[in-house]
Amino acid sequence: MTDILRGKRLEPMDDLALKITSSVETDKRIQKAVVYVNMAHVLALYNARAISKEDMSKIMKALSEELGGFPLDYRYEDVHMSLEQDLSLKIGEVAGHIGLAKSRNDQVATAIRLELKEELLSVMESLESLIENILNVASENVKTFFITFTHLQPAQASTGAHWLLSYAWALLRDLERLKLAYSITDMSPMGSAANAGSLVPVDRYEEADMLGFSGLVENTIDAVSTRDFIFDALYSITSISLNLSKLSADIISFMSLGILDLDDKFVSTSSIMPQKRNPVVAEIVRAKSAVLTSNLIGAMEIVRGLNSSYNLDLQEITPRLWASIDEVSSILKVMSGMVLGIKFNENKAEELAKKAFVIASDLAEFISLKFGVPFREAHHIVGEAVKSSEAGGELISSLIEILKQNGINADAQELTQVINPVSSIEKKITAGGPHPKESIRQINMINLKLKEFEDFVNLSKRKIEKTYQMMINKGWY
Ligand code: ARG
Repeated sequence: MTDILRGKRLEPMDDLALKITSSVETDKRIQKAVVYVNMAHVLALYNARAISKEDMSKIMKALSEELGGFPLDYRYEDVHMSLEQDLSLKIGEVAGHIGLAKSRNDQVATAIRLELKEELLSVMESLESLIENILNVASENVKTFFITFTHLQPAQASTGAHWLLSYAWALLRDLERLKLAYSITDMSPMGSAANAGSLVPVDRYEEADMLGFSGLVENTIDAVSTRDFIFDALYSITSISLNLSKLSADIISFMSLGILDLDDKFVSTSSIMPQKRNPVVAEIVRAKSAVLTSNLIGAMEIVRGLNSSYNLDLQEITPRLWASIDEVSSILKVMSGMVLGIKFNENKAEELAKKAFVIASDLAEFISLKFGVPFREAHHIVGEAVKSSEAGGELISSLIEILKQNGINADAQELTQVINPVSSIEKKITAGGPHPKESIRQINMINLKLKEFEDFVNLSKRKIEKTYQMMINKGWY
């Protein structure tokens, strides 16, 4: 049965050995891409006058039919040999031409890149929708009082939009990473054959062009060796999952504090405690980042210490890539729905803000600016007032007293205005800070950038579509 590959050279392989070395399960994902690669290769062989027009036509016709699917059998090792086997069953010996000037080494690298390009674009689209949803919720909450945290302790006065926008920016950088991963993936290894090219004058540039690639992985050894494009894709995806893990951790903590809530669709309850609203979706998204990180590290570990050119070890990288893409696609979609249902509880946030003195830093800044006191001294004065307030004193009167001891006469009314956490937002002038105008400016900026990414995705999709149309052009047969 394995004759197509082992010919008269080798006896049949041990069955278990065949099973563990076969990639057919993972190859389903690149099945269509492998057919397109073969189509481009057959056209390139014909253009190089290595095969006749008649043979080219026959093979192109048969290949176009294979786009509908063909059996993948582990006994042929992988999708590449399964295709050649199926073709030879259908059109006989002429199918054997597809092996000329081509190896599974350049073929698999090319097919993974083709499939990955499409999948990266679809991850980009899902990420764009998530960012859009974040922007929608942010624009409804530019004035919604909220607090920031450091060390998970209440820190400063802010807004719901300000917090949400921190994620929109981070995810926008992930879009940038995906775009870079796309451009590194968008290079063709085809025509490198096993690793040192061939005697056939196949035009690698033309072949790259026919497959819709933007360029060539020039060096033929590098072309079959490298999986760094997969690492770039995996890193971009892992970075998304780390950002979503952080967002989930925030949501979980904020729900626990009662300052944020989620729609029922994204919480579960307890089998014994009926009062519970557990943020289980966020918990799973948080945990998934560990799975994605381990896929990235696992893939990198496979090449650590590996020699150059093709080694079958590389085959173990691909399932990790597809698994990460599937994971990230589903967490992006679920998070898109979840963020739309975010509700901020302003009353609870204000209550916590007052109890936790989140205006302490405002107060220290005010004293420093108003009375020309070095910030460190103002910090000490406010710290002392907070301490006496915690012991039962009243904040403003304690503060006035301490200021007096330092030779400063302060106006109680003015200080009272400073300690209002809600009006703190309006006074913040920092670019990128919580002032509603700053949030609106950020929303507009992110929207503009999103538009550029959308154009990039649409343009790239159109280019891929055109490539495939060219391949299935009936004019070849
Ligand atoms: N199934 C292999 C993979 O996925 C294809 C290349 C195999 N090459 C070889 N010389 N055995 O990487």
